[in-house]
Amino acid sequence: MSNIFAVILAAGQGTRMKSKLYKVLHPVCGKTMVEHVIDHIGSLNVERVVTVVGHGAELVKETLGDKSEYVLQAEQLGTAHAVQQAEPILGSLEGTTLVVCGDTPLIRPETMQALFAHHEANNAKATILTAVAENPTGYGRIIRDADGQVAQIVEQKDASAEQQLVKEINTGTYCFDNKALFEALKQVKNDNAQGEYYLPDVIEILQKQGEVVAAYVTENFDETLGVNDRFALSQAEELMRARINERHMRNGVTIINPASTHISADAVIGSDSVLLPGVIIEGKTVIGEDCKIGPNSHIVNSKIGNSTTIHSSVVLNSQVGNETAVGPFAHLRPESTLGDHVKIGNFVEVKKSTLGDDTKVSHLSYIGDAEIGSNVNIGCGSITVNYDGKNKFKTTIEDDVFVGCNSNLVAPVTLKKGSFIAAGSTITKEVPEEALAIARARQENKLGYLSKNKSK
Ligand code: UD1
Ligand code: MG
Repeated sequence: MSNIFAVILAAGQGTRMKSKLYKVLHPVCGKTMVEHVIDHIGSLNVERVVTVVGHGAELVKETLGDKSEYVLQAEQLGTAHAVQQAEPILGSLEGTTLVVCGDTPLIRPETMQALFAHHEANNAKATILTAVAENPTGYGRIIRDADGQVAQIVEQKDASAEQQLVKEINTGTYCFDNKALFEALKQVKNDNAQGEYYLPDVIEILQKQGEVVAAYVTENFDETLGVNDRFALSQAEELMRARINERHMRNGVTIINPASTHISADAVIGSDSVLLPGVIIEGKTVIGEDCKIGPNSHIVNSKIGNSTTIHSSVVLNSQVGNETAVGPFAHLRPESTLGDHVKIGNFVEVKKSTLGDDTKVSHLSYIGDAEIGSNVNIGCGSITVNYDGKNKFKTTIEDDVFVGCNSNLVAPVTLKKGSFIAAGSTITKEVPEEALAIARARQENKLGYLSKNKSK
């Protein structure tokens, strides 16, 4: 099909969400609803995408960036009025226009394709994506005539008791002949229960003009869920989570307990990786093959290599190499980079630091603003003293350094290659290559001190 356009309706406040955040910006599996919609459209062959913005216009534009063109609906007078705002961009074009609501994040591209195919096969001027709902409350109902042809769509608030029994609902997604759409929009009136210009009224207008109006009934009601309140948001989250988890499992990822595993829509996970219960993977995280993640790990916008373990830990905007072990109970803060065969053990915090291959920080340490080479051992309880209350300073630790337990490395400071720091040292000066640094008070033993005191 040539000349396909899309209009996304995203101007509403979303009153029923009872939120300071505009409805279409609420996330589902870590990605805003309107981004889900636009990404689904992006996988179709659409020439121009126009998003109608109003409430939160600037934020919506910021979120979608150059994935769309924008028109402003200054006052929210209804969905027909919203589409009308796209007329200056699309009005004069020949083609087919897909209209989608910004609050239906689950409709898959395959379903939109099927809608297009049905539209073409019927040579229709308008085709509605409909579904049969067990509980149709809140949706527009599809009213068919005696021949089974679509006659009109009636909104919940305008529906008679009899019409409310109809279970076939309008999903809010449609295909229109572009010119016929903008012509019909001019005739839409707002004499209804909500005093709004309803886009669904276009259907009755076209039907009365004798045009072909079709409906494509999708089997899967779950896909068509429109999110109007927080309860529906939780349902959308659950459905999307199950869909994402299934995709990963079919790609060879083991998920022990899918119900407690949350993976963002854009995460990538290699085969034979195992996700244990309580794992949350957010943003554009990439996890390699043969990894063991969890239980209870939270990974955000990070890249994890192959055969790596992240046990009960938090990893934020960081990179972790291959065959590396993190946790239990470690915290990798943003801009941390770990090489291969690295070990970060329990109660270790790493911030904005690089650790080379085979380096180990096994217990109870803070590593901040440090550049650490390979094959370095940081003993238990050692820390980089990177902050003087005003500025942050860098610690450089070259390859093959051994830092004894409970050492303070007061930055800025460099430990040269192969040097050795005695346990309990407070290092304030550069340590030369292969040198032993001891920076602590010497031990003094007072012989017989206790027995002498006792006899007094
Ligand atoms: C709408 C449909 C209903 C359908 C349901 C599917 C209408 C009148 N009703 O109802 O038939 O069953 O979706 O989920 O279209 N919007 C604007 N400008 C406006 C009004 C709304 O941009 O002036 C946007 C909203 O931001 C939202 C979308 O249009 O993304 C749908 O609006 P909403 O208020 O959610 O309509 P529903 O009551 O769900
Ligand atoms: Mg809605």
